[in-house]
Amino acid sequence: MSATDDRLRVVVLISGGGTNLQALLDRADSPASPFRVCGVVSNRPGVRGLERAERHGVPSRVLDHVDFEDRATFDTALAELVDSFDPGLVVLAGFMRILTAGFVEHFAGRMVNIHPSLLPEFQGLHTHRRALEAGVGEHGASVHFVTAELDGGPVIAQVRVPVLANDDEDVLAARVLAEEHRLLPQVVCWFAEQRLELRDDRVWFDGKPLDGPMRCCD
Ligand code: GAR
Repeated sequence: MSATDDRLRVVVLISGGGTNLQALLDRADSPASPFRVCGVVSNRPGVRGLERAERHGVPSRVLDHVDFEDRATFDTALAELVDSFDPGLVVLAGFMRILTAGFVEHFAGRMVNIHPSLLPEFQGLHTHRRALEAGVGEHGASVHFVTAELDGGPVIAQVRVPVLANDDEDVLAARVLAEEHRLLPQVVCWFAEQRLELRDDRVWFDGKPLDGPMRCCD
Protein backbone atom coordinates (compact mmCIF):
# COMPACT_ATOMS: atom_id res chain seq x y z
CA MET A 1 0.00 0.00 0.00
CA SER A 2 1.44 3.39 -0.91
CA ALA A 3 2.12 6.04 1.72
CA THR A 4 -0.37 8.32 -0.05
CA ASP A 5 -3.29 5.93 0.30
CA ASP A 6 -6.13 8.25 1.23
CA ARG A 7 -8.99 5.75 1.04
CA LEU A 8 -11.26 5.72 4.08
CA ARG A 9 -10.00 3.33 6.74
CA VAL A 10 -12.78 0.96 7.80
CA VAL A 11 -12.77 -1.38 10.80
CA VAL A 12 -15.32 -4.20 10.68
CA LEU A 13 -16.67 -5.83 13.85
CA ILE A 14 -18.00 -9.36 13.48
CA SER A 15 -19.22 -12.29 15.57
CA GLY A 16 -19.59 -15.06 13.01
CA GLY A 17 -19.59 -16.07 9.37
CA GLY A 18 -18.60 -12.72 8.00
CA THR A 19 -20.32 -12.84 4.62
CA ASN A 20 -21.00 -9.11 4.88
CA LEU A 21 -17.34 -8.61 5.74
CA GLN A 22 -16.53 -10.59 2.59
CA ALA A 23 -18.72 -8.28 0.52
CA LEU A 24 -16.79 -5.30 1.90
CA LEU A 25 -13.42 -6.95 1.27
CA ASP A 26 -14.44 -7.72 -2.31
CA ARG A 27 -15.68 -4.20 -2.95
CA ALA A 28 -12.52 -2.72 -1.42
CA ASP A 29 -10.49 -4.75 -3.94
CA SER A 30 -11.88 -2.81 -6.85
CA PRO A 31 -9.41 -0.17 -8.03
CA ALA A 32 -12.01 2.60 -7.74
CA SER A 33 -12.94 1.77 -4.15
CA PRO A 34 -13.00 4.85 -1.90
CA PHE A 35 -12.42 2.71 1.19
CA ARG A 36 -10.32 -0.14 2.46
CA VAL A 37 -10.76 -2.54 5.35
CA CYS A 38 -7.83 -1.89 7.68
CA GLY A 39 -8.85 -4.19 10.53
CA VAL A 40 -11.34 -6.81 11.65
CA VAL A 41 -12.32 -7.50 15.26
CA SER A 42 -14.35 -10.48 16.43
CA ASN A 43 -15.76 -11.02 19.90
CA ARG A 44 -15.73 -14.76 19.21
CA PRO A 45 -12.66 -16.87 18.51
CA GLY A 46 -12.49 -19.30 15.61
CA VAL A 47 -15.25 -17.81 13.49
CA ARG A 48 -15.23 -17.99 9.71
CA GLY A 49 -15.03 -14.21 9.34
CA LEU A 50 -11.55 -14.26 10.84
CA GLU A 51 -10.41 -16.67 8.12
CA ARG A 52 -11.84 -14.35 5.50
CA ALA A 53 -9.79 -11.45 6.89
CA GLU A 54 -6.64 -13.54 7.03
CA ARG A 55 -7.09 -14.79 3.47
CA HIS A 56 -7.39 -11.18 2.41
CA GLY A 57 -4.27 -10.09 4.31
CA VAL A 58 -6.27 -7.83 6.63
CA PRO A 59 -5.15 -7.70 10.28
CA SER A 60 -7.66 -9.27 12.62
CA ARG A 61 -7.98 -9.50 16.38
CA VAL A 62 -10.16 -11.47 18.78
CA LEU A 63 -11.48 -9.79 21.88
CA ASP A 64 -13.53 -12.45 23.60
CA HIS A 65 -16.21 -10.88 25.78
CA VAL A 66 -16.16 -13.86 28.16
CA ASP A 67 -12.71 -12.73 29.31
CA PHE A 68 -14.13 -9.50 30.71
CA GLU A 69 -15.95 -9.03 33.96
CA ASP A 70 -18.64 -6.76 32.60
CA ARG A 71 -19.92 -5.01 29.51
CA ALA A 72 -18.30 -1.66 30.33
CA THR A 73 -14.84 -3.19 30.76
CA PHE A 74 -15.19 -5.09 27.49
CA ASP A 75 -16.34 -2.01 25.62
CA THR A 76 -13.45 0.08 26.96
CA ALA A 77 -10.98 -2.51 25.68
CA LEU A 78 -12.87 -2.80 22.40
CA ALA A 79 -12.80 0.96 21.83
CA GLU A 80 -9.06 1.01 22.48
CA LEU A 81 -8.50 -1.86 20.05
CA VAL A 82 -10.66 -0.31 17.34
CA ASP A 83 -8.93 3.05 17.80
CA SER A 84 -5.56 1.37 17.32
CA PHE A 85 -6.55 0.87 13.65
CA ASP A 86 -7.29 4.60 13.32
CA PRO A 87 -10.59 4.09 11.48
CA GLY A 88 -12.68 6.70 9.70
CA LEU A 89 -15.66 4.36 9.91
CA VAL A 90 -16.62 1.40 12.11
CA VAL A 91 -18.97 -1.14 10.56
CA LEU A 92 -20.95 -3.60 12.66
CA ALA A 93 -21.45 -6.54 10.30
CA GLY A 94 -23.13 -9.31 12.23
CA PHE A 95 -21.63 -8.09 15.50
CA MET A 96 -23.97 -9.61 18.04
CA ARG A 97 -23.18 -7.57 21.14
CA ILE A 98 -25.12 -4.79 22.77
CA LEU A 99 -22.81 -1.79 23.08
CA THR A 100 -22.64 0.63 25.98
CA ALA A 101 -23.67 4.24 25.57
CA GLY A 102 -20.03 5.24 26.15
CA PHE A 103 -18.81 3.13 23.24
CA VAL A 104 -21.55 4.41 20.96
CA GLU A 105 -20.83 7.99 21.92
CA HIS A 106 -17.12 7.55 21.22
CA PHE A 107 -17.85 6.52 17.61
CA ALA A 108 -20.92 8.73 17.09
CA GLY A 109 -21.48 9.61 13.46
CA ARG A 110 -18.83 7.18 12.28
CA MET A 111 -20.36 3.82 13.12
CA VAL A 112 -23.01 1.96 11.11
CA ASN A 113 -24.80 -1.34 11.61
CA ILE A 114 -26.52 -3.71 9.22
CA HIS A 115 -29.73 -5.23 10.54
CA PRO A 116 -31.81 -7.90 8.79
CA SER A 117 -35.19 -6.19 8.74
CA LEU A 118 -36.93 -3.13 7.40
CA LEU A 119 -36.40 -1.02 10.51
CA PRO A 120 -38.23 0.09 12.58
CA GLU A 121 -39.93 -3.29 12.03
CA PHE A 122 -38.42 -6.27 13.84
CA GLN A 123 -35.66 -4.79 15.96
CA GLY A 124 -33.66 -7.37 17.92
CA LEU A 125 -33.26 -11.07 17.14
CA HIS A 126 -34.97 -13.70 14.94
CA THR A 127 -36.13 -11.12 12.45
CA HIS A 128 -36.89 -13.57 9.63
CA ARG A 129 -38.98 -15.84 11.81
CA ARG A 130 -40.90 -12.88 13.17
CA ALA A 131 -41.48 -11.48 9.67
CA LEU A 132 -42.93 -14.83 8.58
CA GLU A 133 -45.09 -15.04 11.69
CA ALA A 134 -46.39 -11.52 11.07
CA GLY A 135 -47.34 -12.46 7.50
CA VAL A 136 -45.66 -9.44 5.89
CA GLY A 137 -45.43 -9.33 2.11
CA GLU A 138 -42.04 -7.65 2.09
CA HIS A 139 -38.97 -8.01 4.22
CA GLY A 140 -35.40 -6.76 3.90
CA ALA A 141 -32.41 -5.20 5.58
CA SER A 142 -31.37 -1.78 6.81
CA VAL A 143 -28.12 0.05 7.41
CA HIS A 144 -28.32 2.69 10.10
CA PHE A 145 -26.09 4.97 12.10
CA VAL A 146 -25.56 3.47 15.53
CA THR A 147 -27.01 5.37 18.47
CA ALA A 148 -27.55 4.33 22.07
CA GLU A 149 -30.96 2.86 21.20
CA LEU A 150 -30.54 -0.75 20.05
CA ASP A 151 -31.34 -1.01 16.30
CA GLY A 152 -32.89 2.42 16.69
CA GLY A 153 -30.47 4.84 15.01
CA PRO A 154 -31.41 6.84 11.92
CA VAL A 155 -31.74 4.54 8.92
CA ILE A 156 -29.59 5.37 5.91
CA ALA A 157 -30.77 2.86 3.32
CA GLN A 158 -32.74 -0.34 2.94
CA VAL A 159 -33.12 -3.25 0.55
CA ARG A 160 -36.47 -4.95 0.11
CA VAL A 161 -37.25 -8.50 -0.91
CA PRO A 162 -40.59 -10.24 -1.39
CA VAL A 163 -41.76 -12.85 1.08
CA LEU A 164 -42.91 -15.83 -0.98
CA ALA A 165 -45.61 -18.36 -0.20
CA ASN A 166 -43.38 -21.30 0.66
CA ASP A 167 -40.61 -19.41 2.43
CA ASP A 168 -39.19 -20.82 5.61
CA GLU A 169 -36.84 -18.93 7.88
CA ASP A 170 -33.67 -20.15 6.14
CA VAL A 171 -34.87 -19.44 2.62
CA LEU A 172 -36.00 -15.96 3.56
CA ALA A 173 -32.77 -15.27 5.48
CA ALA A 174 -30.70 -16.27 2.44
CA ARG A 175 -32.71 -14.00 0.14
CA VAL A 176 -32.19 -11.07 2.50
CA LEU A 177 -28.50 -11.83 3.07
CA ALA A 178 -27.75 -11.79 -0.68
CA GLU A 179 -29.17 -8.26 -0.79
CA GLU A 180 -27.28 -7.21 2.34
CA HIS A 181 -24.11 -7.89 0.36
CA ARG A 182 -25.11 -5.16 -2.09
CA LEU A 183 -26.49 -2.73 0.48
CA LEU A 184 -23.62 -2.57 2.95
CA PRO A 185 -20.75 -1.86 0.49
CA GLN A 186 -22.90 0.78 -1.19
CA VAL A 187 -23.48 2.63 2.08
CA VAL A 188 -19.80 2.41 3.02
CA CYS A 189 -18.88 3.85 -0.39
CA TRP A 190 -21.27 6.76 0.15
CA PHE A 191 -19.75 7.45 3.55
CA ALA A 192 -16.22 7.22 2.12
CA GLU A 193 -17.18 9.68 -0.62
CA GLN A 194 -18.35 12.06 2.13
CA ARG A 195 -21.90 12.03 0.85
CA LEU A 196 -23.37 10.79 4.15
CA GLU A 197 -23.51 12.47 7.52
CA LEU A 198 -25.31 12.09 10.84
CA ARG A 199 -26.40 15.57 11.90
CA ASP A 200 -29.05 16.54 14.48
CA ASP A 201 -30.10 12.88 14.78
CA ARG A 202 -30.89 12.74 11.07
CA VAL A 203 -29.20 11.27 8.04
CA TRP A 204 -27.92 13.84 5.56
CA PHE A 205 -27.08 12.81 2.01
CA ASP A 206 -25.40 15.14 -0.46
CA GLY A 207 -25.95 18.06 1.93
CA LYS A 208 -29.70 17.50 2.44
CA PRO A 209 -31.60 15.74 5.25
CA LEU A 210 -33.33 12.54 4.18
CA ASP A 211 -37.08 12.23 4.67
CA GLY A 212 -36.75 8.47 4.98
CA PRO A 213 -34.35 5.65 4.18
CA MET A 214 -32.87 5.50 0.70
CA ARG A 215 -33.70 2.45 -1.34
CA CYS A 216 -30.87 0.31 -2.49
CA CYS A 217 -29.59 -0.87 -4.97
CA ASP A 218 -31.09 -0.38 -8.43
C1 GAR B 1 -26.51 -10.62 8.87
O1 GAR B 1 -27.74 -11.07 8.40
C2 GAR B 1 -26.68 -9.33 9.64
O2 GAR B 1 -27.65 -8.48 9.09
C3 GAR B 1 -27.11 -9.84 10.98
O3 GAR B 1 -26.29 -10.96 11.22
C4 GAR B 1 -25.96 -11.56 9.96
C5 GAR B 1 -24.46 -11.72 9.88
O4 GAR B 1 -24.11 -12.44 8.75
N1 GAR B 1 -26.96 -8.85 12.00
C6 GAR B 1 -27.78 -8.75 13.05
O5 GAR B 1 -28.69 -9.52 13.25
C7 GAR B 1 -27.47 -7.60 13.99
N2 GAR B 1 -28.59 -7.32 14.82
P1 GAR B 1 -22.59 -12.46 8.28
O6 GAR B 1 -21.74 -12.76 9.50
O7 GAR B 1 -22.55 -13.58 7.29
O8 GAR B 1 -22.28 -11.12 7.68
